[in-house]
Amino acid sequence: MRAYLDNAATTRLDPAVLEAMLPLMTEDFGNPSSIHAHGRKVRTVIERARKTVATLLHTSPAEIFFTSGGTEADNTAIRSSIETYGLKHAITSPLEHHAVLHTLEHLASRGIIKLSLVEVDEKGRLNLAHLEELLRTHPDTLVSLMHGNNEIGNLLDLETVGNLCREHNAVFHSDTVQTMGHYRHDLQQLPVDFIVGSAHKFHGPKGVGFLYANANTKSGRGPIHPFVHGGPQERNMRGGTENVYGIVGLAKALEIAYAEMDQHRQYIESLKVRMIDQLRGKLDGVAFNGCSDDLTQSLYTVLNVSLPSSEMSDMLLFNLDIAGISASGGSACTSGSNLGSHVLSALPGNDADRGAIRFSFSKYNTPEEVDYVVNTLVELFQREQEAVK
Ligand SMILES: Cc1ncc(COP(=O)(O)O)c(C=O)c1O
Repeated sequence: MRAYLDNAATTRLDPAVLEAMLPLMTEDFGNPSSIHAHGRKVRTVIERARKTVATLLHTSPAEIFFTSGGTEADNTAIRSSIETYGLKHAITSPLEHHAVLHTLEHLASRGIIKLSLVEVDEKGRLNLAHLEELLRTHPDTLVSLMHGNNEIGNLLDLETVGNLCREHNAVFHSDTVQTMGHYRHDLQQLPVDFIVGSAHKFHGPKGVGFLYANANTKSGRGPIHPFVHGGPQERNMRGGTENVYGIVGLAKALEIAYAEMDQHRQYIESLKVRMIDQLRGKLDGVAFNGCSDDLTQSLYTVLNVSLPSSEMSDMLLFNLDIAGISASGGSACTSGSNLGSHVLSALPGNDADRGAIRFSFSKYNTPEEVDYVVNTLVELFQREQEAVK
């Protein structure tokens, strides 16, 4: 068996998405900036895709900008809002994806901003009292806090945090890469200035994403300047000939994700519960990192398993790979090493000797795959115990 359980890293392309993309790779090859018929046809296709995304998210097409993926969308929100509004301070958490953390750390290292980190507890929950304290003492701030954590799955209540930002006149960006296409985002209601999406996380193509940027920003500061300068594409917000087939694939993938969301959520959640129950029943000493075993507080797509410390902790992923299982993870960084997970390292009291594996599920996984993974893990630990005897 070859089981793919790394869907937080990337997902399999939906065949219907490929079908929607193919004509843009063949007969509809015009440059959307050209004013002749070939160009106009493709321009129409892009604008239709923008309208699809905007409609699903309850916003206006004028607020959707296509990018090369989640990383560029995060960079645009962060760098352009700091530059356009002259912000001198930002607040984030140590659990963010590097697309956010490294961008903010770079700006702090250049003296452009001062950076504050919100405290987190041993389960990776943000200390909202600390966030409020930081907001109170730092007016004119950018807050960048992710919606769903890609490693431990923790979910953030965007409404609560967004309202706190409003109260303190802060700009609010949320990295929603892991929730886009898996949860509904109603931008008429959500108090956010910027959110992002990346097509390959919801069965679309790689190398394409989008930024939602509120036209005036809900914080009242007006539109941001572009991050990628060049031609007038994306209404002067993002230079460069559009990734036309990517954009079409993104819109199709999001459309499918919304149409099938409730059904897939139920199915995928049942796979996660199956894995939690079986691991608890069959593997002594198993635990779960972050809030990932709490269905109300974590992504239904992600389970971060903490395994008893053992001689083979470093070899777990390798052994699973040999057994035909693709997963990812890594324990907390040990001192002096920069390998491992910066997310687990940031959790107070996390034991770096324990193995950590992130399993992440999609609509293409099966209960049989879950059973196979659990049995393989149990066997690996049994074999090790026998070797020690
Ligand atoms: C939370 C989060 N943010 C940002 C990204 C980056 O997205 P992309 O791969 O589209 O650049 C990822 C993907 O790994 C992610 O999981």
